[in-house]
Amino acid sequence: MAETFVRHDGVLHCEDVAIPDIVARWGTPSYVYSAGAIRRRFEELSGALGDYPHLIAYSVKANGNLEVLRTLAELGAGADIVSGGELYRARLAGIPADRIVFSGVGKTVNELAAGLSAGIYGFNIESEGELEELSRLASASGMVAPVALRVNPGVDAPTPHHYTRTGHAATKFGIPISDAPRLYAKAASLPGIRVRGVDMHIGSQILAVEPYQDAVAQVVELVHVLRSQGHQLEYLDVGGGLGISYSGGEGISARAFADAILPLLQGSELRLVLEPGRYIVGQAGVLVTRVLYLKEGGGKRFVITDAGMNDLLRPSHYSGYHAVEPVEATADREEVRVDVVGPICETGDFLALDRDVPRVEPGELLVLRTAGAYGFSMASTYNQRPRPAEVMVSGGEMRLARRRETLEDLVAGELDL
Ligand SMILES: Cc1ncc(COP(=O)(O)O)c(C=O)c1O
Repeated sequence: MAETFVRHDGVLHCEDVAIPDIVARWGTPSYVYSAGAIRRRFEELSGALGDYPHLIAYSVKANGNLEVLRTLAELGAGADIVSGGELYRARLAGIPADRIVFSGVGKTVNELAAGLSAGIYGFNIESEGELEELSRLASASGMVAPVALRVNPGVDAPTPHHYTRTGHAATKFGIPISDAPRLYAKAASLPGIRVRGVDMHIGSQILAVEPYQDAVAQVVELVHVLRSQGHQLEYLDVGGGLGISYSGGEGISARAFADAILPLLQGSELRLVLEPGRYIVGQAGVLVTRVLYLKEGGGKRFVITDAGMNDLLRPSHYSGYHAVEPVEATADREEVRVDVVGPICETGDFLALDRDVPRVEPGELLVLRTAGAYGFSMASTYNQRPRPAEVMVSGGEMRLARRRETLEDLVAGELDL
């Protein structure tokens, strides 16, 4: 596979564009994405599934930038959305409604209505109350909503942080698999509902295929039971969660994933729907930041950067790991153990803790690798910091994919009231 972020004469490039050239044009902090890497990952997964009927519904929450979505739309991707905002973005980027599934534990009436009128492929229903609400809404406007119920197969998939585990019984997500027959019967009896599929999602950053195998086997078994009760089921949505390498280890391989679950589906006549987010975009992006100051105290060395937890929340939110490197490598630099921290007034504002990195100087550029997923999409304006620019690179071409926010943007919703 072609490398995405490589050094030429020591200078880090994204595809054929030097990172310092991007910074010279659009400043720091900035997210930089590789269109080529996004395409490769999509094609790897799609290729591994081969001619088994499938829909890769990219999970927009991982990175909802319109350029990212357009890149995927061109390849035939669908979208997994969790809000009216994500529906709006996905449609704007040209993702057809019949390739969109709507997940999320708390969809509002307005969001359900937006999905209905767009004509999406399926609603992933997470509670009995939501099922009733959707039926009311659909039948009031003479429509029938296609649904899958999200079931929890009781698989506690190991993920790096308990915040990203969702497949066990005691979670706010989905319904217990044991309750599925009752709720499918109820769904079938409601006037505004058409039962169409079954849905699951067992967590995020899952590095082994066994939890998927275990969960899919249970859900296929459930499909047999439901079909014997007369339900017409045409698809199985196995969610997302395919894990990637952040620190040099192995991510899940598309081939291993396909080999693990396709045999369970053979003969089932179920279209396979997947909702990968991180797998597609995680390694396709970096966050570029500039070192502001160096500081020592209490036996610690701090590298203070112009990016903070508002720009990249993963390290402080769930101990997410991102490799830190200088953009320009120079020979013979000793490594020093540092905390890379941002300018925000929170002790929890860090990008990397106790990390051995080459000695850096104020003014130098650093990258945080593997920041394409849950980077910008979790960014905020906390401390009244405009959110970073986003840049898309394709071959030797760079394009601004989102301009850096301005101070005016920060107050726009409060003026002109
Ligand atoms: C329902 C659902 N689908 C898909 C995803 C995407 O997960 P990932 O980016 O790990 O593939 C998530 C992430 O939380 C999710 O909650």
